[in-house]
Amino acid sequence: MSDLLEQIEEVSTAAANDLSAVKSLADLEAFRIKFLGAKGAVKALMPLLGKVAKEDKPAIGQKLNGVSQALTSAYELRKAELESTTDVMGIDVTEPGDRPALGRRHILMQVVDELVELFGRMGFSTAAGPEVEDEFHNFVALNIPQSHPARDPLDNYYLQPAKAEDGRMKEQRSTDSSSGVRPSSLLLRTQTSTVQIRVMEKQKPPIRVVIPGRVYRPDTHDDTHLSMFHQLEALVIDKGVTMVDLKSTIIQFVHAYFGEDTKVRFRPSFFPFTEPSAEVDVWFEDKQKWIELGGCGMVHPNVLSAVNIDPEEYSGWAFGFGIERIAMRKYSINNIRLFVENDIRFLRQF
Ligand code: DAH
Repeated sequence: MSDLLEQIEEVSTAAANDLSAVKSLADLEAFRIKFLGAKGAVKALMPLLGKVAKEDKPAIGQKLNGVSQALTSAYELRKAELESTTDVMGIDVTEPGDRPALGRRHILMQVVDELVELFGRMGFSTAAGPEVEDEFHNFVALNIPQSHPARDPLDNYYLQPAKAEDGRMKEQRSTDSSSGVRPSSLLLRTQTSTVQIRVMEKQKPPIRVVIPGRVYRPDTHDDTHLSMFHQLEALVIDKGVTMVDLKSTIIQFVHAYFGEDTKVRFRPSFFPFTEPSAEVDVWFEDKQKWIELGGCGMVHPNVLSAVNIDPEEYSGWAFGFGIERIAMRKYSINNIRLFVENDIRFLRQF
C-alpha cells in the first residue's frame, strides 16, 4: 500500500515541477500528454489500485482522484493564463520584444550640420536651391558664356536636350529682358554656385549665407571623385567687402573646424564668376599631402549685374568647397566611395 502512495506522491511532485517550467501553450500540451493524457502518468497508476488490499482501496483511491483533479485544475488554470497573454497567432505579447535596429545620421549629413552650425556662429544663415537647374542659374548668370567648355554636353547631365539642328546637339538660343538670356535646357546642377544667384534674386545686400547641397558631374569615380557629391557654398555681399574678409573667414573656418595648427594655403586660380579667384588647400596629415577643398574669390561684377546689384556700390566674396573632402580630412577617411557604398561597418563608426 505505501508503495502506491509513494508513487502517487512522486507523480504529483514531478507534475508540479513540470508545470512550473511551462512557458508556452506548446509546453503545456506536452505536460498534458505526459501526465493527464490517456497514456499519461496518472492513468498509468489506475490499474495498480486493483492490486491494493480491499481495506486500503478507499483511502488510496481518494488520494489518486485528489491528485488527478488537482493536476487537471492546475492545468486548466495555466492554460487560461497562457491563452490570455497569447494572441491569435500564438505569440506571447508579454515577452520582451526585439530591440529595433536604430539608424543614425549619415556621416556626411553630420558634417553638414557641423558646418552649418559653425558658420551660423560666424553670422551666416542657410539657403537651398533646386538640384534640377536651368542654364541661366548654372552658367549664364555666373558669367560662364555659351562658348565655355564647362557647358559641354559631355561634362553635364542635361535632362532636356536642346533642339537638335543638323543632327547635332545644340543649345537653344536664349533671350531675357535683363541679361539678354533666358532659361533654356535643364540639367542637374554642377555646382552650388547656382544658389548664389537664386539668393541674390530674392534678397538684397547685406547677404551672408552658406548653402550646402548636392551636385552632379559625369566624372569617373576614383578615391577622390564621384559623379554625385556635396558642396558647401558661401556668399557674402555688402558695402566695402574685400579679399581680406574672404581670406580671414576661410582661415578662421579651417582653424575652428580642423584645429588651430592646420596648415591652409591659397593658390591663384580662375573661375568665371570670381575675380580674383583662388583655390584653397588644407594639409592632410594622414596622406602627407595637400587636399583641395575647392575654389573661392571676389564675386565678379558681371555676376552682381546679372542680378541687378550695383557692382559700384557692393562687393562680395564666395567659396564652394567639397563637403566629402572636408569630411575626409576631418575624420581621416581615405576613399570617397565609402560615403556611398552603404556599408554599415563604415557608417556605424560615426
Ligand atoms: N563652383 C566652383 C566649382 O564647383 C567652386 C567655386 C569657386 C565656388 C569659386 C565659388 C567660388 O563660390 O567663388 O568648381
